[in-house]
Amino acid sequence: MSDKKLAGQVALITGAGGGFGESFARRFVGEGAQVVIAEINTSAGKRVEQDLKSTYGDNILFITEGLASEYGPDGIRVNSICPLLGYTGLTETFTGVKDTPEFRAKFAATIPMRRGLEHDDLANAAVYLCSSDSSFVTGVNLPVDGGSTTVVD
Ligand SMILES: NC(=O)c1ccc[n+]([C@@H]2O[C@H](COP(=O)([O-])OP(=O)(O)OC[C@H]3O[C@@H](n4cnc5c(N)ncnc54)[C@H](O)[C@@H]3O)[C@@H](O)[C@H]2O)c1
Repeated sequence: MSDKKLAGQVALITGAGGGFGESFARRFVGEGAQVVIAEINTSAGKRVEQDLKSTYGDNILFITEGLASEYGPDGIRVNSICPLLGYTGLTETFTGVKDTPEFRAKFAATIPMRRGLEHDDLANAAVYLCSSDSSFVTGVNLPVDGGSTTVVD
């Protein structure tokens, strides 16, 4: 039996050519999943695909545009991850300020765990939610935010 947490699973990851999606694709392939890269930016998607293929062989399926998700009838667990602000291509759009080391230091100081989100923080949570480790977990919106939801303004 494989010790990989996602062996035998197929994951469709939207936006896998960058940001959170790319880190998810890398972790999921590393955990044995077959990954469908659903990426609107063809060159970004191909970059990730080629990088992973060169590492993991033919474990990747590639598509360039979003696929409609299809949910099965029963036995499908549905959970979500609620991240802290992450440092990606969207950081400046979300905050309205430049993503600088000074900005990151100030932001981290507001988080109970005193650091910003790292992409693996989300990917680790996603591996857990998609693996049998969470086989009795469903209907959960999981904050991955260093405790920021515990702080009330
Ligand atoms: N960055 C954050 O702080 C943060 C926090 C909470 C939620 N989110 C959400 O997480 C998701 C990913 O954010 P990110 O920060 O990694 O963004 P990003 O811009 O770094 O990466 C997004 C990727 O998705 C691709 N993409 C965009 N539209 C697409 C489409 N229609 N089909 C397929 N691919 C598409 C882009 O080309 C890009 O490679 C977004 O929905 C964002 O709103 C981000």
